[in-house]
Amino acid sequence: MNVTHLECAACGLRHEAQRLHNLCTKCGKPLLVRYDMERAGRTLTKESLRGRDSKKGPERGSDLWRYREVLPVEHDENIISLGEGWTPLAHASRLGKQIGLDQLFIKDESQNPTQSFKARGMTAAVSMARELGARKLAVPSAGNAAGALAAYAAKAGLEAFIFMPRDTPRANVIECEQTGAHVTLLDGLITDCGAEVARRKESEGWFDVSTLKEPYRIEGKKTLGYEVAEQMDWQLPDVIIYPTGGGTGLIGMWKAFDEMEQMGWIGSKRPRMVTVQAAGCAPIVKAFAEGKQFAEEFPNAHTTASGLRVPKAIGDFMILDALRTSGGTAIAVTDDELIAATREIGAAEGIFCAPEGAACLPALKKLMAAGQVKPDESVVLFNTGSGVKYLESFS
Ligand SMILES: Cc1ncc(COP(=O)(O)O)c(C=O)c1O
Ligand SMILES: [Zn+2]
Repeated sequence: MNVTHLECAACGLRHEAQRLHNLCTKCGKPLLVRYDMERAGRTLTKESLRGRDSKKGPERGSDLWRYREVLPVEHDENIISLGEGWTPLAHASRLGKQIGLDQLFIKDESQNPTQSFKARGMTAAVSMARELGARKLAVPSAGNAAGALAAYAAKAGLEAFIFMPRDTPRANVIECEQTGAHVTLLDGLITDCGAEVARRKESEGWFDVSTLKEPYRIEGKKTLGYEVAEQMDWQLPDVIIYPTGGGTGLIGMWKAFDEMEQMGWIGSKRPRMVTVQAAGCAPIVKAFAEGKQFAEEFPNAHTTASGLRVPKAIGDFMILDALRTSGGTAIAVTDDELIAATREIGAAEGIFCAPEGAACLPALKKLMAAGQVKPDESVVLFNTGSGVKYLESFS
């Protein structure tokens, strides 16, 4: 294993690896996993990856564990995998033609186990929790993270305790129940669910796997960045548009780009990172516009894109830093716009997007109209989940 230690994203304090951690013991901010990148790069090379791309063999290779050298978990037998990652990067040529963009791509995360990109985070978090001896895992969730945790915990033989807002899409609730989790629905938002986990975890003996409150979900999510680079033949796109709730995928990709640069795979140029949020819950958009380093809690959060209903994100300062450093931006779109976009993408490309993923399209159109994305630039939209989980949104 190439992990050297964990490091606080805010104050830099070093924490020992291979022990269960939540937040920084000094300042309460997220911890990031650090690797000996020189050592990792000895066996993880662009060439070695070519031999790891077959879905057919019994060896691991077609899931995100193909990037094994830059993932945590000491002993292979602790890896809990359901075949996550290595999803298609579709060239959206018909949709691109309609909006005047040749190089438009959709990273289709609906093809993951439990139909969302949350599987990436949970394969890493559950594997590590098992390796480090946790038995009961608790999570507050907008829906998809819950479904993923329930599935990976089941596969690991661990117990999952899930807290979701009562109005979470039905599919998320049912999938958790059917994969054996303990499900509690609360009147309130994901932040209220998080507070409930925090209140009870000590007495119940739960390990809290809230996004960015443990160090490993982001490690799974960062493989989005490795995959996009590899699938684009190591030429990163000009623009990445990402539907942002807690922001773990965006922060994860940003980390992956740094790691790839350290291994000499890419240069210092980065895609412009763009956050999309729903107009009814846009704390990052507001903080970005106001030039703030942290985002305030967004009042009366509401949107049918339940994964974007995150009024306060603990990684807000990391999201905002990536947006600004990359020359990107943050954009809000209305629920009407994102629902209409689901059909537009679906009819053009055959991908039934989650409303969160669909939100990327109206954001892109706004950027093009403002001249902030040029017709000859390459753009990747992240469809983070499947529309099948959101039947209520379309009826
Ligand atoms: C489909 C979907 N897209 C996007 C998000 C937001 O993801 P993140 O927390 O990584 O910003 C979520 C979170 O629940 C989601 O379920
Ligand atoms: Zn700290």
